[in-house]
Amino acid sequence: MPKRPIQRPDLAGPFPENVAIIMDGNGRWAEGKGLRRVFGHRRGANVVRDITTACAEMGMNSLTLYAFSVENWQRPEREIRYLMRLLERYLVEERPTLMENDIRLRGIGRLADLPAGPLATLRETERLTADNTGMTLRLALSYGGRSEIADAVKSVVEDVRKGALDPADIDEETLRAHLYDPHTPDPDLVIRTAGEMRLSNFLLWQASYSELYVCDVCWPQFGRDQLLAAIHSYAGRVRKFGGLTGPKRAQLGPAH
Ligand code: IPE
Ligand code: IPE
Ligand code: MG
Repeated sequence: MPKRPIQRPDLAGPFPENVAIIMDGNGRWAEGKGLRRVFGHRRGANVVRDITTACAEMGMNSLTLYAFSVENWQRPEREIRYLMRLLERYLVEERPTLMENDIRLRGIGRLADLPAGPLATLRETERLTADNTGMTLRLALSYGGRSEIADAVKSVVEDVRKGALDPADIDEETLRAHLYDPHTPDPDLVIRTAGEMRLSNFLLWQASYSELYVCDVCWPQFGRDQLLAAIHSYAGRVRKFGGLTGPKRAQLGPAH
């Protein structure tokens, strides 16, 4: 597959190699136009295509999209059915774009909760894109940060029970290794659309030190300009991870 040259934006600071997005506001966008919520979801799926391609073109390492939370199962059955049909269609229609852009797709979450059709389509799309070496696109489906940690603990305990792990050796890295996708680095930047200042149970473990960016536009209106604004905002941040030596501070030299 011919690879396109990477086009990094001109930034005043570091580029966020790993980004996660809480794609919120589909329903509000549709209702604001006098349309049913599902129209927002349909438009939102098109935005996924455009933003994914934009991130791959910039040479991002990973993009994680919050598509359906464990809590979203509480929504009306009709809306859930629509979302699941949309997911299945998206996964099939996106295959050429994923291959063209060298993107590897992975699902994270309690995937066994998905209906048989979308689950099989997801597995097949993962298989078809498994050898792509460009960006990793993770779709968080039936995902919850708390259930991910609970599932990890269960699997750690299972290793202890089998005698494969000594409880005295359990540390943060043990737990990380039992998360849904331990090999993708933590997000540098978490973007949330539609203005809510909360994580809604997204990547609770991984986002410990992520930079947060919330914008007011609803997901169906999120475009490359908004993505770039978030990336520029990230480039201007000082990340200290609890220490004192952020890159900006280091540049100031020892006298400061
Ligand atoms: C995000 O949009 C999509 C999903 C959660 C599936 P919403 O459906 O939450 O839209 P709002 O927040 O109600 O506007
Ligand atoms: C978060 O949005 C989940 C997804 C974007 C998939 P929600 O709309 O479900 O979150 P709350 O209810 O506003 O916290
Ligand atoms: Mg919402």
